[in-house]
Amino acid sequence: MNRRRRIYEGKAKILYEGPEPGTLVQHFKDDATAFNNQKHEVVDGKGVLNNRISEYIFNQLNTLGIPTHFIRRLNMREQLIHEVEIIPLEVVVRNVAAGSLCKRLGVEEGTQLPRSIIEFYYKNDELGDPLVSEEHITAFGWATPAELDDMMALAIRINDFLSGLFLGVGIRLVDFKIEMGRHIDGDMMRVILADEISPDSCRLWDSQTNDKMDKDRFRQNLGGMVEAYREVARRLGIRIDTDRPAATGPVLVK
Ligand code: TMP
Repeated sequence: MNRRRRIYEGKAKILYEGPEPGTLVQHFKDDATAFNNQKHEVVDGKGVLNNRISEYIFNQLNTLGIPTHFIRRLNMREQLIHEVEIIPLEVVVRNVAAGSLCKRLGVEEGTQLPRSIIEFYYKNDELGDPLVSEEHITAFGWATPAELDDMMALAIRINDFLSGLFLGVGIRLVDFKIEMGRHIDGDMMRVILADEISPDSCRLWDSQTNDKMDKDRFRQNLGGMVEAYREVARRLGIRIDTDRPAATGPVLVK
């Protein structure tokens, strides 16, 4: 397994060459980072949970006709994906004020936004992923105006789906970050959802208590990160194999 060609290693995931041309293997690590890697810990079990939660969401998006890179899960930590050319933008959709929006604009955390807001950040660790406008994106050629339209339409559809999905299990979708890529399929090129959607990339608050069930538990040193992720998976009805009680051996049936 270790002899597979590693294509890219990020903070929380590794991409390996896939079994067929045009495919990759996306491997979820247990590493948790925040503030552009200034805070880093290995959180036992996080990779397995994110793999399963992201699989669950991407499968449903695929079924709804929202194109994603996800093909199928391979094992506890890995999934087979379509290779894409990543567009160097982080697309953030916000429904409720939190995080950098509160800091930047002085809005109180938890304020319901008058409508969903889409923001773009330029993916560049050295610059700390700065907020950019559509003008910057098209002027510097990070995406074309047509791609930007596609990205916004995808982001809105994904927000609608995710908001309903989480609301149904008692979770408020505060905001999330997605990444998209260009996928070449025959002589067609289109923008599809890539990367992951998991409690690492979303803010998820319990609808009743407002308890944080996402990576803010790590960012803000609240503790209980894996327990919160496991609870998100449990509410979505995702069975994680490691939850199975240890085998007790054969049982004599009389
Ligand atoms: P922010 O409020 O810090 O800008 O984050 C907005 C959303 O994006 C939140 O759900 C967390 C997610 N996010 C990432 O997934 N990766 C990042 O590097 C950052 C800064 C935010």
